[in-house]
Amino acid sequence: MRLPKVTASVAIALLADGRVAQAINLDLGSIDSIKSAARTIAFDMMSFYNGNTTGNIPGNLPGPYYWWEAGAMFGAMIDYWYYTGDTTYNDITTQAMLFQVGPNNDYMTPNQTKTEGNDDQGFWGLAAMSAAEWAEKTWDWMTGVGLLDNSYYVYDGSDLTINCSNVNHLQWTYNAGAFLLGAANMYNYTNGSSKWQERVNGMVKGLDVFFPANNIMQEVACENNGKCDVDQHSFKAYLARWMAATTKMAPFTYDAIMAKLTPSAQAAAQQCSGGNNGRMCGLKWQSGTAWDGTTGVGQEMAALEVIQSNLIAQVRGPVTNSTGGTSKGDYSAGTTSVCGSTSRAIIFREEHLLADRAAWPPIFRGIIGSPGPNGRQLDGMGGGKSALTWISIDYSSNCGNVTSTIGPFAVDSGLVQRKEGMATVRIHNTNMGKIIYSTFPVVDGEAASSGGFAIDGVAGTAAKIKPAFINIAGLKTGKMLPTGNITDTCEGVEATCVDVGSPCIFIQAEGVGIAGTILPDGVDAHPTLHKTLESIRRKAAVAMGICKDEASTPGSIPKIAMVSWSASHKLLSGETIQGNTIDLVVRALSVGQPHRAAPITVALATAAAANLKGLTVHANVSGERVDSDVSTIGHSSGKITVGAKFDDRGSLTHATVFRTAKRRMDGFVYLKRNGLTV
Ligand SMILES: *[C@@H]1O[C@H](CO)[C@@H](O)[C@H](O)[C@H]1NC(C)=O
Ligand SMILES: *[C@@H]1O[C@H](CO)[C@@H](O)[C@H](O)[C@H]1NC(C)=O
Ligand SMILES: *[C@@H]1O[C@H](CO)[C@@H](O)[C@H](O)[C@H]1NC(C)=O
Ligand SMILES: *[C@@H]1O[C@H](CO)[C@@H](O)[C@H](O)[C@H]1NC(C)=O
Ligand SMILES: *[C@@H]1O[C@H](CO)[C@@H](O)[C@H](O)[C@H]1NC(C)=O
Ligand SMILES: *[C@@H]1O[C@H](CO)[C@@H](O)[C@H](O)[C@H]1NC(C)=O
Ligand SMILES: *[C@@H]1O[C@H](CO)[C@@H](O)[C@H](O)[C@H]1NC(C)=O
Ligand SMILES: *[C@@H]1O[C@H](CO)[C@@H](O)[C@H](O)[C@H]1NC(C)=O
Ligand SMILES: *[C@@H]1O[C@H](CO)[C@@H](O)[C@H](O)[C@H]1NC(C)=O
Repeated sequence: MRLPKVTASVAIALLADGRVAQAINLDLGSIDSIKSAARTIAFDMMSFYNGNTTGNIPGNLPGPYYWWEAGAMFGAMIDYWYYTGDTTYNDITTQAMLFQVGPNNDYMTPNQTKTEGNDDQGFWGLAAMSAAEWAEKTWDWMTGVGLLDNSYYVYDGSDLTINCSNVNHLQWTYNAGAFLLGAANMYNYTNGSSKWQERVNGMVKGLDVFFPANNIMQEVACENNGKCDVDQHSFKAYLARWMAATTKMAPFTYDAIMAKLTPSAQAAAQQCSGGNNGRMCGLKWQSGTAWDGTTGVGQEMAALEVIQSNLIAQVRGPVTNSTGGTSKGDYSAGTTSVCGSTSRAIIFREEHLLADRAAWPPIFRGIIGSPGPNGRQLDGMGGGKSALTWISIDYSSNCGNVTSTIGPFAVDSGLVQRKEGMATVRIHNTNMGKIIYSTFPVVDGEAASSGGFAIDGVAGTAAKIKPAFINIAGLKTGKMLPTGNITDTCEGVEATCVDVGSPCIFIQAEGVGIAGTILPDGVDAHPTLHKTLESIRRKAAVAMGICKDEASTPGSIPKIAMVSWSASHKLLSGETIQGNTIDLVVRALSVGQPHRAAPITVALATAAAANLKGLTVHANVSGERVDSDVSTIGHSSGKITVGAKFDDRGSLTHATVFRTAKRRMDGFVYLKRNGLTV
């Protein structure tokens, strides 16, 4: 028997069998107390999870838990983060969510096709959406599953135990919760229509069945008879989650809903009084500190959700600006850096697009204003050359200038909710297979579009955005220094080969006998430079293990760049950049062409190399950095600021590019059978 520390703040109860119950202390009047209780329960819930350990599969719970419940659990962890701001579990949650997303990004993973029903997929999808929005989707999804009667009771129509002969008249908390939130979403979407207000009120009233005494939530179909199965142990979590969300979408429900969530939370905390640590949660919240003898992921999740839902007034509601239609943001991703000049992006929500990806390109082309399927020039939004580039954002290329728009877009479109201040959005870059963190200021619920940060090539200033690329060392070759050498000699020239973002070879400009401030025209006009650089590139590519011989070197990788000291020099625009405003000068070639700026991957690699003493690049970095935290890299069109961080052992942990983005407009694209109008 463990000996409890007796303190005033811990409720102690002696159970019939002599064990001591130590319920979780909860003062619902104190935000800190709620967060602290949530933290304890989140920890205990995650103690059931081992998917982050060697040999186990990220996102799976061990038996007897089905896959869908793991999805629900990570949904609860996303809620936990949303409510408490505690980021402790974000990495394992992100790992699990991304691991399980499946080849088509739809939470239909091949391993689960046998056990997965629509609603299983829905739980993972809901977890993904709830990091995002309490979307209308919930309603659409649930209407197909259950039935609703005149008392706003929701029945479970999917239980096979009654031989499919009749509607199953069992009522489960999660069904009611899903319908409640669905109705609240519709209420909100219809700008508060009386029809939906009435339905929301009806659903709230209908919840009474699950609160038979003292406003404490009960899984009435199984809790009292002790027959709740492993799945059913978790259902109360979803009702609590969705009741709280309802107060955001339909604020008039707040008092009625909190009148139930508050006593339920208090009771749930008391029921967390069992197991080996004396604080594992049972499900019978009605029983006070007399633990019901059960433990599990579901019980912990239910307690966690109902307790943290009491913080709902403290957190911002979703910004649902894009429900219905095809919304898009058009950001001026002010930059000179990726492929030459300033670019714009049009961003789509995947859910607003047709499921059939083959149908996308003509739609994108139409919107951009490239020739439509019938050869007609449509009056679109793009400007000629940008056409294929912004389309690439969603599913192929990885151009950093567009990456920078994703974070602000996610906030402005309501995909993610952010409090005022600095927001960090995690972006899964499917092309690099990497997580990018984008940090930027949020003002009035929107990504700030003004700030003191100027980028060359963009008029005025805009908010500073930091997409940070995590763990991008060795993406292609497995090593940050793919040859194993700090410097190699290729064609008699000292070269440093780095794989950060993508493989890149650095040489000193003077190593090939040219001035480092040469502009693209000068590179092209040089009689032998192209040939020299290309043969260095091919030799290095083989040494880096990218290709087996020089002849088979791909055109796109590795990139090659010349570096030199931070001298003042003339830019493409004719303006002069001062040497003391940059740390070094870079001239990169991409697919055989001198780049008009610096490809983002080259910028990342440069920042990494600039920090590694003894490398070719470091040797040419000015002793005193312009900005001590970052590398300020000069290129033919101006400069770009990149940060690189290393861990204690000298491994690159992440690199950051600073850029700006401004939201230009959002709107609808109308698709017609015979073409497009914008
Ligand atoms: C797995 O995650 C838990 C948190 O739930 C953490 O305590 C543990 O250290 C992690 N294990 C590994 C191997 O990362
Ligand atoms: C699918 O199962 C295989 C074999 O057990 C495992 O290696 C893989 O990681 C699983 N993938 C997912 C997404 O669960
Ligand atoms: C389902 O049908 C079988 C065979 O017809 C019957 O034995 C069983 O009792 C039925 N179950 C229910 C719950 O009605
Ligand atoms: C809600 O109000 C906004 C702003 O007045 C309007 O644009 C929108 O169409 C309305 N939505 C519905 C569904 O009526
Ligand atoms: C819709 O939801 C938003 C976000 O929570 C809220 O501010 C707004 O008041 C809601 N609209 C109505 C009509 O209640
Ligand atoms: C999006 O939000 C902005 C700012 O609140 C508002 O002006 C605009 O009308 C909204 N757009 C839609 C489509 O609701
Ligand atoms: C980034 O900006 C450059 C310059 O306009 C453009 O050529 C390139 O295609 C852009 N990348 C993307 C993905 O838009
Ligand atoms: C590393 O440098 C040594 C000479 O110092 C050379 O023999 C070796 O080939 C180089 N390794 C690679 C992979 O280039
Ligand atoms: C770059 O560094 C090398 C090695 O220290 C040095 O010899 C060279 O002069 C530097 N180049 C410039 C332009 O400063």
